[in-house]
Amino acid sequence: MLALQARALSKTYRKAKRPALDGVDLDVASGQIFTMLGRNGAGKTTFLRIASTQLLPSSGSITVLGLDAVKQAKELREKIAMTPQEAETVYPLTPRDHVLLSLRMRGMEKAEAEKRAQRALDDLELSDVADTNSDWLSGGLKQRVIVAMALRTDAELIYLDEPSIGLDPLSRRKVWDQLTLLKKTGKTIILTTHYMDEAEALSDNLVIIDKGKVVASGTPRSVKAAVTSRATRVDVFDKFTQNELEAYGHVVSIAGRHRVLTDADGARKLGDTAVERGASIAIAPVTLDDVFVDIVGESEKEEEHEG
Ligand SMILES: Nc1ncnc2c1ncn2[C@@H]1O[C@H](COP(=O)(O)OP(=O)(O)OP(=O)(O)O)[C@@H](O)[C@H]1O
Ligand SMILES: [Mg+2]
Repeated sequence: MLALQARALSKTYRKAKRPALDGVDLDVASGQIFTMLGRNGAGKTTFLRIASTQLLPSSGSITVLGLDAVKQAKELREKIAMTPQEAETVYPLTPRDHVLLSLRMRGMEKAEAEKRAQRALDDLELSDVADTNSDWLSGGLKQRVIVAMALRTDAELIYLDEPSIGLDPLSRRKVWDQLTLLKKTGKTIILTTHYMDEAEALSDNLVIIDKGKVVASGTPRSVKAAVTSRATRVDVFDKFTQNELEAYGHVVSIAGRHRVLTDADGARKLGDTAVERGASIAIAPVTLDDVFVDIVGESEKEEEHEG
């Protein structure tokens, strides 16, 4: 069953030169963790705001949990929860107050809300600070409070807009664990992130959005496999110029280090030449990170050509 279906969904903000969303078709199966990737300004938050009934699309349709997100917004709101990007804790409420409030506002009965709040606080390792002023918490702890607010609601579908921003590596994994556990209870989770390893570890399916359009979609594995012509990466540490490397594949150079995205044949040829020269290289399969840079970087180049 589908939890979300968008068709030709577009949004142009008032006075904007180009659309923030431009004909997006997207299916999310229920019970999945679905991730949206894309550069800053790609349109991810715009999509989530429309899907969570906070913003109206300019055209196209979007159905969430079988309800029209525009015409049946009120009914839909009861079935979804959202952690907005850049949400902030409120002075002088405690973490417990925050989580309780978010549950009570959804109409949950007090005793049940208290039980669930405690659980959400435990799950995100916030019990020690549960009753202190949120203002005293570090940025990462505040962010965990924000995620905790959405964790134990009765919503069938949860949107999380950059849930792991500002979290240390261990806290991020804590959040991943919780999202995976939530999924096991049958909920659908739609999130955005700029961490490719997170997308790779967590998602059943993902999309890459670029300038308001879906440019890649599928499982992390299939998205990587879709660029078979560049399924291998070769890091070249010395003895090659960028120009020379262009002959072997697509070169991404950052801070004087060259990474060549290429196919098996290209990697072999480059490997041979490197051995002859005594150069240091490292060969590995591409990661989602490479695929992202490849797909999105390519569209950037085209734009430069167009002027
Ligand atoms: N309220 C608004 N009014 C006008 N333009 C907006 C508004 N909100 C977003 N935009 C524009 O719409 C485009 C998409 O923005 P959006 O916030 O959806 O991107 P995003 O993918 O979430 O980016 P990020 O990764 O930085 O959060 C951008 O060009 C942005 O400037
Ligand atoms: Mg955003």
